[in-house]
Amino acid sequence: DNGPNAPARISLDARREKEMADHVVRRLTTDGICVLDNFLDETTGDSILEEVRKLREEGVFRDGQLVNQSTANTARNIRGDIITWAEGSEPNCRRIGYLVSRMDSIIMRCNNKLGKCKINGRTKAMVACYPGGGSRYVRHVDNPNGDGRCVTCIYYLNKNWDVQKNGGLLRIFPQGRDEVADIEPKFNRLLFFWSDRRNPHEVQEAFATRYAITVWYFDAEERARAMARTHNSIGQS
Ligand code: OGA
Ligand code: OGA
Ligand code: MN
Repeated sequence: DNGPNAPARISLDARREKEMADHVVRRLTTDGICVLDNFLDETTGDSILEEVRKLREEGVFRDGQLVNQSTANTARNIRGDIITWAEGSEPNCRRIGYLVSRMDSIIMRCNNKLGKCKINGRTKAMVACYPGGGSRYVRHVDNPNGDGRCVTCIYYLNKNWDVQKNGGLLRIFPQGRDEVADIEPKFNRLLFFWSDRRNPHEVQEAFATRYAITVWYFDAEERARAMARTHNSIGQS
């Protein structure tokens, strides 16, 4: 009964995506944090990991930048990852591009259900590598001052990650709660959390290579205000 008059079927993928989006809305609304495991097919995750490793071999990763970087050494002690930015359309970033398109479809299915947050854009993908050796990112807030970013979305790529041995835990300290949320950077795990002061967090010392891909989604109104501020201050200087 696949004839022209058969009822249109929602594909399994679309249904699963809708379920995931509903889950994201519920968890962000109640906890401000949401974890989705087994986000993509295992083989798709493998191909993304392979692409990231190739990028590393190509030598395109640079020290993660801080806004107020005094000296490189101090900076590395605050933030020990090396990063590269990807649009996703570059020939050597196609798998990352696919990942980001899948992140986008989840978040767009959540849109208008995320409180006052209306998502209308995002950053490029930040591909981050903590190269082991105790590299970490000290406790911080991604967007403490209204730069427009409302949701942080991170995809982890680390097979057989053993926190006891390899460290590298993401610890979130949700504002106004006594409990912390500990997130292991497991292969094929997708994480969402509010980017503002509700979620200070740290990456604990990593003792093995730890890969993650992060995208930040913009709230239309906050982003517009932030851009207007920037243009004004440029105009005045
Ligand atoms: C960041 C960050 C968390 C992680 O890059 O701002 O907090 O688990 N990363 O990699
Ligand atoms: C803040 C802030 C950092 C922290 O809430 O503005 O910078 O670790 N917090 O709580
Ligand atoms: Mn962060």
